[in-house]
Amino acid sequence: MPFFDPIESTFYGHCVERLLMSPELAPLLAGGIVEIGPGTARPVVEALQRSGSRVPITGYELDAEAARMASRAAAGVELGNYTVVQGDFFAATAPGAPAVSARPARCAIGNPPYLPATVRPVGASHLWGGHDGAHVARRILSAEMDVVLLMIASISDPVGLVQHARAAGYRVADWLVRPIPFGRYSRLPWVSRRIGELARSGRAFFGPEGYLLAGVTWVRAGDPIAAADEPDHGATVLRRILTTAGSATGLDETAGVGRTTTVDGHRRTPILPGHRELPARPVSRLSGSDA
Ligand SMILES: C[S@@+](CC[C@H](N)C(=O)[O-])C[C@H]1O[C@@H](n2cnc3c(N)ncnc32)[C@H](O)[C@@H]1O
Repeated sequence: MPFFDPIESTFYGHCVERLLMSPELAPLLAGGIVEIGPGTARPVVEALQRSGSRVPITGYELDAEAARMASRAAAGVELGNYTVVQGDFFAATAPGAPAVSARPARCAIGNPPYLPATVRPVGASHLWGGHDGAHVARRILSAEMDVVLLMIASISDPVGLVQHARAAGYRVADWLVRPIPFGRYSRLPWVSRRIGELARSGRAFFGPEGYLLAGVTWVRAGDPIAAADEPDHGATVLRRILTTAGSATGLDETAGVGRTTTVDGHRRTPILPGHRELPARPVSRLSGSDA
């Protein structure tokens, strides 16, 4: 089933809307935006409807069922500036790939797969973000776009990812953070085990209520608003906030109730269930007053 989470996907849509409404970033978006993994397309459809933005957005979705649903939803955007294509984002945006418009897009957005696991998790393979959950986000940040908006999770090596962005020449231009309750995907055995391992090595941060998700907009140094030689205060604050998500070290994989353990003399509090995974709403409700 195509991914849609009422909390996470809605938050992603708000981050996209904020990007589309930014007067400072508008000149950098003029050539269009490419999106990895629209899922149901509902987040971007709603962001476009709320903002009234005319920026063309092309979403690439690997999953055939999701791509079909997303493409129908995108067709409902009144200004006709959202297109969804089935395919791999990286193949479609690689240098030399056939261009979909005269001016190549210089901005990438997405709520990329970020579940960490040492093997592709059965039941959530399209949400797998590699060993540390940050593999797909790192790949996007290595693609030399001018602007990148990505959702990054405190359970998926957030500090390493922020450092990677800096090393790739980016500077944090904007961010929003919100808490996300653990859901059925993060409770899958391979995933929850790996989250615990990452926590014990200081690469995942979460607490009884769940973890933090940040919608981060990076701009490449060289652009006037991304002076490379200045310290990146946005990145410093973001790192600090994401690491305060909590210091739990394990999720209960079976009962949905937290495990209390003692680590370094400190009792760790339970992780409580709280995720609401709902099926996507029918495509017919994606336009008009539903936005
Ligand atoms: C976490 S879901 C986000 C879906 C939607 N953007 C949302 O926030 O509701 C990630 C999506 O990316 C898709 N995906 C993963 N890797 C991809 C790739 N290389 N190219 C295109 N889509 C990809 C998955 O199939 C999935 O639909």
